[in-house]
Amino acid sequence: MSQENKLGIVVVGASGDLAQRKVIPALFSLFCQGYLPEDFHLYGLARTAFDHEGFRRKIAENLTCRYTPGVASCADRTEAFLSRCYYCQGQYSSSDSFLDLFQLMRQQEGDGPVNRIFYMAIPPSVFMDVAKALGDSGLVACGDRDEWSRIVIEKPFGRDRQSSDILIQEMHKVFTEDMTYRIDHYLGKEIVQNLLVLRFANRIFEPLWNRKTIHSVHIKWAEPVGVGPRGGYFDGFGIIRDVMQNHLLQILSLLAMERPAKFDAGAIRDAKVQLLKAIGPLSLDDLVVGQYGASESGRQTAYVAEPMIPSGSLSPTYAAALLKIHNPRWEGVPFLIEAGKALDERINEVRIRFHEVPGDVWGDQQARVEANELVIRIQPDEAITLKIMNKVPGLGLELARTDLNLRYQAAFNTLIPDAYECLLLDVIEGDRNLFIRADELAAAWDIFTPVLHDLESRKTVPESYPYGSAGPEAGRRLARRYGFLQGKSS
Ligand code: BG6
Repeated sequence: MSQENKLGIVVVGASGDLAQRKVIPALFSLFCQGYLPEDFHLYGLARTAFDHEGFRRKIAENLTCRYTPGVASCADRTEAFLSRCYYCQGQYSSSDSFLDLFQLMRQQEGDGPVNRIFYMAIPPSVFMDVAKALGDSGLVACGDRDEWSRIVIEKPFGRDRQSSDILIQEMHKVFTEDMTYRIDHYLGKEIVQNLLVLRFANRIFEPLWNRKTIHSVHIKWAEPVGVGPRGGYFDGFGIIRDVMQNHLLQILSLLAMERPAKFDAGAIRDAKVQLLKAIGPLSLDDLVVGQYGASESGRQTAYVAEPMIPSGSLSPTYAAALLKIHNPRWEGVPFLIEAGKALDERINEVRIRFHEVPGDVWGDQQARVEANELVIRIQPDEAITLKIMNKVPGLGLELARTDLNLRYQAAFNTLIPDAYECLLLDVIEGDRNLFIRADELAAAWDIFTPVLHDLESRKTVPESYPYGSAGPEAGRRLARRYGFLQGKSS
């Protein structure tokens, strides 16, 4: 049985930030919880010079065991994990480097079938070189033994529809679609995974989930920090490609898609593609872009003064986009997605606002009747809150909107797994539900490609906003134009 095969996980780009801070600690956590086979090895490949011991020391800096395994202490597990880690120094485009890696792997693997995962923790500019070198070196199982190979890649998958299609075609020369796991780490977040359960395992929501009852949907993503050392990468992509076209659009898909025929990867992804195709291409009139300037105190520098940002850069660090879904469920309901760096808070939440109650029943108190809202806070402090009108206790009649609140910390007395843990376990188990299929990616690019090209060809200057503020005024204007921001409370 291939599940019991040995498992080799190759992390390409193993000395980098993503590998060290996210991927390898998540594997360690899975190891501590007993999810990795005993015969598991991790191989790092990168350009930095390390020997095996140096690589292990580097990994150890970021390992913390969040779980207490029954049989061994955390320290024992750390040593056991590190003893399975090996390193190969190499160049990403060199077949020789991958042949060295192959030799190293064969020494540990011995005979017998082995499953392999290749995690590409590298910039997209070298994805294709690495895939080709992996193919040439013979490391990729071609399916003639009872073993498998899988590749994991992270966005950005191209810069627009065309470059994404080319990337997909080229990668398919080595890894078929079935072998490819395109990660969007937001899909691994606990509350994002809960969206389908919330919608389809509760009788109460489905009858309300449509244009008759829902007034508007706002998906907001804000970070209180600027791009810092990631400026070199960020400037080439901007916030629309970095966060909107993927993380926020995925959240929107899960919120708005039709019920899948079954809870399986094929049916869920079919429903997401159908939804994405019903969203028209975003128009420039419905998009606002901003870029942070220095903070009002002058302590935080402007985007263009960050390391590796060319002066005069037009890359947006803030965007607000109004998406329209043309199907019977959602026609006419505005979906506002908003993302910004260097804003005044860290938050990712969905605010579903219901239509107001019709009629005038409450006399003096009528003005206090506010629309209901369902607020799903993805981070920080995961929560689902229903904002409903209530009578304030007392002898008179006073109405106030109050919260029915489900806070994850209080409701579930359990550790919330890291998104990468969940997604890596799915890769090992071959569960493709939370990964982006090629046609889904194409449909997502179709929404944003025309407007991204327009911004570039017109050299649109993003509106400046101070570091640490609520973002550009134009974002609020767009929100008001579509009926957001009225009567909104906390
Ligand atoms: C990444 C983006 O995909 O997600 C970053 O490239 C962003 O710009 C990050 O900061 C946010 O992830 P999280 O899990 O910290 O919300």
